[in-house]
Amino acid sequence: MKPLVVLILALVLLGLRFLRLSRVLWVPVWWLASYVFLVYGIEPPLPRSIILMFMGIITLSLLAYFSVDSQTLSAAWGAIVRFVTDRRYTIPLAMVVVALPAAVGWVAYRNASKAPNPPLFGRTIHPPPPIEITFKGKKINLTEADNPFRALEKSDPDKFRQHVARGRVIYFQNCVFCHGDNLNGEGLFAHGFDPLPANFADPTTIAMLQESYLFWRIAKGGPGLPEESAPWASAMPAWEKFLSEEDIWDVILFLYDYTGYRPRAKESLE
Ligand code: HEC
Repeated sequence: MKPLVVLILALVLLGLRFLRLSRVLWVPVWWLASYVFLVYGIEPPLPRSIILMFMGIITLSLLAYFSVDSQTLSAAWGAIVRFVTDRRYTIPLAMVVVALPAAVGWVAYRNASKAPNPPLFGRTIHPPPPIEITFKGKKINLTEADNPFRALEKSDPDKFRQHVARGRVIYFQNCVFCHGDNLNGEGLFAHGFDPLPANFADPTTIAMLQESYLFWRIAKGGPGLPEESAPWASAMPAWEKFLSEEDIWDVILFLYDYTGYRPRAKESLE
């Protein structure tokens, strides 16, 4: 319960008591006070269905209270008749006549104009890769394939730097527009796409993937993704048509070199 709301309600009801409000008016006053209490006075808030149920019970009990003896009933009826016929009440009556349908209309409008929520689809960002792909007619087994230039890192660092430098050129000629000049997925065109281009600086992309996985994704792009990566169509192009095998391994070296991540190692079978 929220003590402040209860206090305000109690004060209002007490104040009306001192004003010697007619008994007939107590019904709407109590009805409104109950509603305010149920909606604003309870913590955590009640679900709408519970509030509706309570209001139904409260409405019935208020009606029962008024209809138990004929005196209060005729008093209530008399008050309603006077409100509708007495000239003194023309303006309040007009207000009620306008306000009631307006309130109903407003509620109906509000319910009807709620933006429809699209159903929530999960999208698999890293689906399992196929075991084997065909790259320009050559079969590549993704479980076995590894970056052929990775070993140079230790055996021939100069040669390795050359491959990274080539990868850098390839990246800035082809990928930067989407994946951005900091490799953070915020390229010039990035915001037009859903899903957004991958952010390689984020530890949930290349840092947890194997190089052969990247080879597959770069070679086959969005069109190479399986069903479960829908419903949004990935804008990632299939680079098989534009880059050579060596180009792709080089750009992969560059992605890891620039971000400082290590590719995920192959699980060994021993
Ligand atoms: C037209 C925009 C666009 C261009 C150009 C582009 N990409 Fe992408 N790329 C995307 C989008 C969008 C995604 C995310 C959706 C997906 O995974 O297919 C993505 C995803 C990737 C992924 C998968 C990352 C992951 O975590 O699964 C890799 C790897 C990748 N891109 C590499 C590249 C490389 C390398 C180039 C340049 C040769 C390139 N991209 C050029 C739009 C682009």
